[in-house]
Amino acid sequence: MVKYLKNIKIERIGYWGIGITKSDDGKKILIKWGALPGSIVDCVIKKNKKDYLEWHITKVHEYDPKYIDGEIFCPHFFSNINPNLGDNSSIEKHKIWCGWCKWQMISYPKQIELKQEIVEDCFRKVKEKPSFLPIVASPKEKWYRNKIEFSFWVYMAAREWIESKWNLWFHKQWEFSKIIDVDSCWLISDKANSVFEYIKKLCFESGLSTYDQKFNRWFFRHLVIREWVNTKQLMINLAVYPLDKKDEINTDNRENLKKIFKEDEFIKENITSFVITYNDGLADIVRWPNISTENIIGDWYIYEKLILDWIGQEKVESTFRISPFSFFQTNTHWAELLFQTAISNVLEVWEIKWKILDLYCGTGSIGIGFLKAGVWNNLIGIEIVEEAIQDANYNAEINGIKDNCKFIASPSEKVLSKNPEIENELTNIWLVIVDPPREWLHKNVVERISQLKEDNNFKLLYISCNPSTMARDIELFIEKWFKVKSLQAVDMFPQTHHIETVGVLT
Ligand SMILES: C[S@@+](CC[C@H](N)C(=O)[O-])C[C@H]1O[C@@H](n2cnc3c(N)ncnc32)[C@H](O)[C@@H]1O
Repeated sequence: MVKYLKNIKIERIGYWGIGITKSDDGKKILIKWGALPGSIVDCVIKKNKKDYLEWHITKVHEYDPKYIDGEIFCPHFFSNINPNLGDNSSIEKHKIWCGWCKWQMISYPKQIELKQEIVEDCFRKVKEKPSFLPIVASPKEKWYRNKIEFSFWVYMAAREWIESKWNLWFHKQWEFSKIIDVDSCWLISDKANSVFEYIKKLCFESGLSTYDQKFNRWFFRHLVIREWVNTKQLMINLAVYPLDKKDEINTDNRENLKKIFKEDEFIKENITSFVITYNDGLADIVRWPNISTENIIGDWYIYEKLILDWIGQEKVESTFRISPFSFFQTNTHWAELLFQTAISNVLEVWEIKWKILDLYCGTGSIGIGFLKAGVWNNLIGIEIVEEAIQDANYNAEINGIKDNCKFIASPSEKVLSKNPEIENELTNIWLVIVDPPREWLHKNVVERISQLKEDNNFKLLYISCNPSTMARDIELFIEKWFKVKSLQAVDMFPQTHHIETVGVLT
């Protein structure tokens, strides 16, 4: 079995920025780590599956000049064309550099072009579809994220000037187990960066160690910053390992740090809400079934507004309460743009509409935003996270549409399968919205939506962050009662390979 490939040309790239080409015997070759169309690369094999081989790039011999027309702005950029890296002939050598803005060597107009090609490619097998509408560009190319998560980790040797093994901060890398030290990030605002730097300094000075997964002990685990663009509110969620017998020696240090957080003037001035999450689970995630939390500053919730402004209508503003673990779109201005795009793709004529069924509704932002526009009468929202549903109910109330909304905390696939709680309400549906996580829709959801279509002449609005699973689901829908009316990509994450796609089915 060949373990290395030399001088391979990447034909095209697909979803998740994965390079695609074919082996001599016709097997699909998937190439990760900085793949761009037209590059000539060396690779090492990582997976040999039945249908495909997965390779990782070890060296890029040549880029297609078309795809390196951008400006590399971040010193933490991962690539062997980063001028900040000096002798940089091997990607392998630098593989623990930050993996966020992987596309910064490509100019933004070219990124948009590439994303359009990727989504169109994902849908190439879908029959009888209209041409894709032109991709909607992001209003901002940098500083656009309203949420970022940093990890603390035991130092992984890579940069000689870092001497200590403990107490260093590292930014979560695209490769799960690799973390790097960053001083600031181009994807968040100046304010969020200065809060990050400040909290980092306080933690660094506290004498407490980073969490060590090997021994499941010590302290700092994650720092999550959420900054709302329209309300200017900012939330910190600091995840730490809880105090136990193994760490009694640090009790005073822990208490001191908390006191500093509570009394510090900079924190009071800049942070609306500060939550500490105590997490003793092994997994490298903030949320774990056994977590407990403590709210040391401000309220448990922060609020964001969405301002929808679409042609011919007045601006419509809706307000959302979001608790620390509830989902909210990570680019507020983009969310406004996405919802406007969705609404104008769905609406044909101004007429009285009935009910919206909003599946995977989070805190209700899409459904409530649409209802606030006054076009629809009723909303049923379904979401798996109980807290998000509590937020959704509250959001319906503060937006003055409580009596028109019903939210249910449940997996969509469960509640839709003949659940008496909503069975009687699944009539007069005018619009079904699905905005699922990256995976395919559960087969029960596809089946139930298709059944409902037999009795209700609704449109299906499918919003997705994964065009390849969306394309597969849409193929299933068109086998039943649906036709594809429109498809359009919306760019929420400039400098990265992530893409959002909006589809309307009738
Ligand atoms: C991409 S987010 C969309 C949220 C919301 N539509 C919004 O725009 O804020 C996907 C949501 O699906 C929820 N979710 C995940 N699995 C689910 C399931 N099986 N049933 C219902 N909701 C689910 C997640 O908690 C998350 O809130």
